[in-house]
Amino acid sequence: MKRISALFMLVSALISCSDKSVQRNNGKNNAYIQKADSVLSLMTLDEKIGQTVLFTSGWDVTGPSMDENYKEYLKNGSVGAVFNAFTTKYNRELQKIAVEDTRLGIPLLFGYDVIHGHRTIFPIPLGESASWDLELMEKTARVAATEASAEGINWTFAPMVDIARDARWGRIAEGAGEDTYLGSLIAGARVKGFQGDDLSANNTILACAKHYAAYGAALAGRDYNTVDMSENELRTTYLPPFKAALDAGVATFMNAFNDLNGVPATGNEFLLRDILKGEWTFNGFVVTDYTSMNEMVAHGYAGDEKQAGEIAMNAGVDMDMQGGIYMKYLKESVGEGKVSEADLDDAVRRILEMKFRLGLFDDPYRYLDEKREKEEILNDAHLETARDAARKSMVLLKNENRVLPLSPDQKVALIGPLVKDEKNIIGNWAAAGDRNGTAVSVFEGFEERLGEGGFLYAEGCKITGGDTSGFAAAVATAGKADVVVMVVGELEGMTGEAASRTDINIPGKQKALIEAVKNTGKPVVLVLMNGRPLTLEWENNTVDAILEAWWPGTMGGHAVADVLYGDYNPSGKLTVSFPRAVGQLPLFYNHKNTGRPIDSGDPDQKYVSRYLYTPNTPLYPFGYGLSYTSFSYEVSTDKEKMTPEDTLTVTAEVTNTGDRDGEEVVQLYVHDKVASITPPVKQLKKFEKVFIKAGETKTVVFELSAEDLKFYNRELERIYEPGEFELFVAGDSDNSFTHAFELVDK
Ligand code: BGC
Repeated sequence: MKRISALFMLVSALISCSDKSVQRNNGKNNAYIQKADSVLSLMTLDEKIGQTVLFTSGWDVTGPSMDENYKEYLKNGSVGAVFNAFTTKYNRELQKIAVEDTRLGIPLLFGYDVIHGHRTIFPIPLGESASWDLELMEKTARVAATEASAEGINWTFAPMVDIARDARWGRIAEGAGEDTYLGSLIAGARVKGFQGDDLSANNTILACAKHYAAYGAALAGRDYNTVDMSENELRTTYLPPFKAALDAGVATFMNAFNDLNGVPATGNEFLLRDILKGEWTFNGFVVTDYTSMNEMVAHGYAGDEKQAGEIAMNAGVDMDMQGGIYMKYLKESVGEGKVSEADLDDAVRRILEMKFRLGLFDDPYRYLDEKREKEEILNDAHLETARDAARKSMVLLKNENRVLPLSPDQKVALIGPLVKDEKNIIGNWAAAGDRNGTAVSVFEGFEERLGEGGFLYAEGCKITGGDTSGFAAAVATAGKADVVVMVVGELEGMTGEAASRTDINIPGKQKALIEAVKNTGKPVVLVLMNGRPLTLEWENNTVDAILEAWWPGTMGGHAVADVLYGDYNPSGKLTVSFPRAVGQLPLFYNHKNTGRPIDSGDPDQKYVSRYLYTPNTPLYPFGYGLSYTSFSYEVSTDKEKMTPEDTLTVTAEVTNTGDRDGEEVVQLYVHDKVASITPPVKQLKKFEKVFIKAGETKTVVFELSAEDLKFYNRELERIYEPGEFELFVAGDSDNSFTHAFELVDK
């Protein structure tokens, strides 16, 4: 502590005479940069390099571990940040080494993948995005930061803002789906949630926009795979959520593993120096993904690791996660003039600035408060938020003959391998979430509601494998019930990193189990737990109701029961299209037209852009989700022509035509009929989630301006073009246009 105060006084004294990099912050006089510069001026080359090094503590290793000697490195000042370390006890021990045993006593950053909760786990991000509730997503990120920061963490590797359109890719689970507009709003909300208004508060942490860039477009949905796309597509579809995260003040960016147009993202000067740090004037720092610097050798882009380090630093990578390259080779590279010390200084300044912003130089132990740790972790308010988030994330995909909601007088049988599950239910990347008993299973959710023995149960089969020995008992159990609820899905490890699939069916013998149970003639409700769109055509044709529950998190079991019994009327809407067949992938609603679109009802129509035997359309479209009530729409526009100075007012009178109160996500889609770059067939432009009482009508007003009609032209300028447009307002993306308007020059 003494050493820090001495350093801090020195820093304060030096501030007045140091302003050399202030211009980087758009000319704003940034006191943090001055402070960082003051520390920088005291540092040796080795100490500077140390700040650019991030090592895992050895807990939760997500890839090949480079080195087990991280504690030695800490003592030498060779490490600036540690990840996969948490709990006040452990992190205090590590921080103490950095503060007390190194020459300058610069505190460490502690990073961790706090993706959808820390100890209290919320639905996976893809599931949560189906709530279309930005406030909720900001809130869950806030709670996650509150818990994580109470256990020593001050930096999360989230949000993941990769647009993903290929359900084979396991990491689709971590993002906000296929739409750029919605994904950008969600990116901003999550950043605000993690970082709050004041980074120096002891319950806010640095966020990290990842994986920069275009990782979600991995060829054939295979993880880490090549990406080759036009700059227009990059800027139109994949970059906006990163820009939105930046506009929300995100402190850090993480490189993607993939190469983009022949250049690995980690060595991509165009992405990092030209766009991120140039055009967007990003002031935070850039960290590699786990050994992605080293992987430039395997990519065939660097001859050896030393060269990979030079490429990365020259391209604008400030911190090396787990690669050990900056630690081993950067000094030599600077000595040889292959890397400039000015670039290294810039990297270190950015890292130090964030340490100042977090308040770590004032008190390196500010995120290590045992009292907070006890109070915050899994507290009742957090658990209530988790229950609410889980309910709001669930999407009702089918509900024939209103089999749902269940009535308390019905005898229910719960069948399936995920009924009693407390391990998979919290999903992939569940941070420090407990997989051994903390999470509420569906079984427990029902038990709390119906009492012990208040329902029937059979497992039937496992999630994977070929064992059908439990079928007979499951069928017998179903036979005794009025209605069967089957909880089936994937293993949590079937989504997430390095978990791409070539078929996206419900795995193992679960489908056969559904068939056997359905053959009893009892109504069957499927509750799905999974991390990606699945192919459900057979299930859709077979069972009576389907509730997509995703991986709902710690309170998942209660939330499922709340929805099935109608205490919560489902309001989730898909943020990814569910294909009919895996061969349709990648599939997304805002695709372009071809020169030969399908234009007739003839299923055998030849020489048009279609598949043999399978329609082009998804089984469940983007924006889709049912409610226990129904809604009708009356839409009007206030003009037929608008100028770039005008706004077009689109008014939707939305009526709850059913007998239950409910929420509806009112969505506005626009189609640009002719443009100098072929336009998508439709694009989400606005939405609002509204609560409407049974029988009542709410008026939702959207204002469309020329700004909303902009796109990147061939010169990569963002422009609008006069011309004809059409629009509709509805509860999902699969609707016909109802109104036309024209954008005219003044
Ligand atoms: C993942 C990142 C993650 C990192 C650290 C990598 O394998 O791609 O998303 O933040 O590990 O755990």
